Amino acid sequence: TPKGTCLESVKIAIDTGYRHIDGAFVYFNEHEVGQAIREKIAEGRIKREDIFYCGKLWNTCHPPELVRPTLEKTLKILKLDYVDLYIIELPMAFKPGDAIYPRDENGKFIYHETDLCATWEAMEACKDAGLAKSIGVSNFNRRQLEMILNKPGLKHKPVSNQVECHPYFTQPKLLEFCRQHDIVIVGYSPLGTSRDETWVNVSSPPLLKDSVLNAIGKKYNKTAAQIALRFNIQRGVVVIPKSFNPQRIRENFQIFDFSLTEKEMKEIEALNKNVRYVELLM
Ligand code: A2P
Repeated sequence: TPKGTCLESVKIAIDTGYRHIDGAFVYFNEHEVGQAIREKIAEGRIKREDIFYCGKLWNTCHPPELVRPTLEKTLKILKLDYVDLYIIELPMAFKPGDAIYPRDENGKFIYHETDLCATWEAMEACKDAGLAKSIGVSNFNRRQLEMILNKPGLKHKPVSNQVECHPYFTQPKLLEFCRQHDIVIVGYSPLGTSRDETWVNVSSPPLLKDSVLNAIGKKYNKTAAQIALRFNIQRGVVVIPKSFNPQRIRENFQIFDFSLTEKEMKEIEALNKNVRYVELLM
């Protein structure tokens, strides 16, 4: 995003009432997010403890000895003392180093063998040191979650698993598994992504054009976006809609003044296509 866009958007979001901010080192805008939070604290609008900031451990930083220094780097960029949640961004590791997407001479990703359980122990140490209030994971499937949950000597279990989740990809099985283990699902791309062909599978149709979402929206005087977000929060899935547009940032927050009927929830659930927009082919 152009310089300053993220700063302005986060400030508008905080003024609107958002408190959960989903970030990552690889978004390369953590300095702007941190500045927005600090400015809003200085204005007296919020206190640090009102904000819930989630940071992420990138694939090149899975070796256990890199975990704490990587989080410390994020804190330095944010100019904050702690993150509320720190998560392993993806279960697969890349070769450590300066290249965020390390590739060999044939353009193939260079992976790195690490033990996710050892990475998790380093995450636990970050929580114990107070650098992260909670720790979790992202893009983990059931098998990978079980590996952590069944780890001998597990000290802290993942509090959340951030995965793609919206009416076209409802994650019924993973959601049930996570419910059984008290792991909160945080749904990314809850509006069906920006449909940027460089990383989105655009063969799946645009979510917000869906006729069911739009028809239900009409009944409540809401948009398809608001219905998609309400659907997830109403079934206990946290949503992290992304927008850099002030009007849409506000629109996406206007979802707490109505509720969907059980029949409508079922109708929306039936839209599931089991097809991801974000295929993460790496
Ligand atoms: P913009 O930044 O111009 O608002 P997701 O959260 O699923 O990743 O979706 C993000 C995309 O959806 C962005 O391209 C964003 O564009 C767009 N978007 C965000 N809020 C809305 C909304 N209420 N209606 C339509 N599009 C939206």
